Amino acid sequence: MMMIITVPAGLEGVVVAETAISLIDGEQGRLSYRGVDIQEVVNRFGRWEDLLPWLVLSQVTEVVPSCDGCRAGDGGTDEPMVRLIRLLIDGQSRWPFKDNGSELTWLASLPPRFAGVDPSGFSSVAAAYLTGIRGGRPPTAAEERALNAYWVMSAEHGLNASTFAVRVAASTASSLPLALAAGVAALAGPLHGGAPEGVLALLQETQDVDDLDHYLTEKVLNGERLMGFGHRVYRTRDPRAEALSQVFRDLASDHDVVDRALRLEESALRVLGQQKPNRPLQTNVEYYAAVLMEALGIAPELCPVTFACGRLAGYAAHYHEQRATGRLIRPLASYNPAVGQ
Ligand code: ACO
Repeated sequence: MMMIITVPAGLEGVVVAETAISLIDGEQGRLSYRGVDIQEVVNRFGRWEDLLPWLVLSQVTEVVPSCDGCRAGDGGTDEPMVRLIRLLIDGQSRWPFKDNGSELTWLASLPPRFAGVDPSGFSSVAAAYLTGIRGGRPPTAAEERALNAYWVMSAEHGLNASTFAVRVAASTASSLPLALAAGVAALAGPLHGGAPEGVLALLQETQDVDDLDHYLTEKVLNGERLMGFGHRVYRTRDPRAEALSQVFRDLASDHDVVDRALRLEESALRVLGQQKPNRPLQTNVEYYAAVLMEALGIAPELCPVTFACGRLAGYAAHYHEQRATGRLIRPLASYNPAVGQ
């Protein structure tokens, strides 16, 4: 008889896959990719495209891992995400890729193609992307480094909601382009990759507020969530927020947004500590991602796409791992007619 286990609706604490791609220690606030601490990863890979082969292909032995009896499927503000999804879906016509190199070339072509620029002549994908989305203004060396650091440190983060969506799609033997599209769709929501827009809105609306603590307390008492704070796994400050705030300071001298961001963070942490004493709510990666993107001159509506571009590396790695080692993902639901009434 099948053993039925009832788990929380959010699947908290339920291990649904084994992964060698990243280790997240939510209690200690530690993160590593393939056994290498995140800070060292950032130091090791100056450019996101250098990270790609190491993160994506470390375990891949063939482009389309075989599975018994199945084969790959060969055959408002969300608008930028929709455009990225269209680009991904266009990749379906090239699936399956003829070799690993073609797959990586395709992955690395996506950010510049989204930004409408030809990447040749640029020193990195990040430089091409930034130039394109900023209407032709090329980045300074510090700006290029900053976007690369952001992409490298947010390339992978375990079974977050969007990566789980990729793995669910991969578990059905769907193609890589379509599985990535599933991930980007799941990333689009404000509780996940859409959070930076909310952070920037908060920064904007508090620009002239003197008593920040009072203002934020009212919001939390009204049941609002402060975007950029809280995490399903971390109970400490997200290590990526720490690393990103360093990158951000490198850019900071000409950006007064830094001071405002630091003041807002301080006040938000104080207020959340007072209003939600039973739940340690700390700064998450999206907070500093948002202010970094603002400092880089990236329009708020392009924050989710910018996040998604970097995360494509982790999605692709999980796609291959799921195809090579996983089973069809199919949790059960128990019937309860009272739900939602
Ligand atoms: N602001 C105010 N209160 C919060 C916040 C927040 N940012 N986050 C959680 N809480 C409160 C909840 O209201 C709840 O309070 P209650 O117990 O009094 O009802 C308590 O903390 C627990 O909240 P849960 O919903 O159980 O926490 P969960 O683990 O589901 O939430 C999440 C994680 C979705 C990230 C949440 O913290 C949140 O909504 N944060 C804001 C959005 C955000 O920044 N998302 C980006 C996350 S990082 C990423 O996706 C890459």
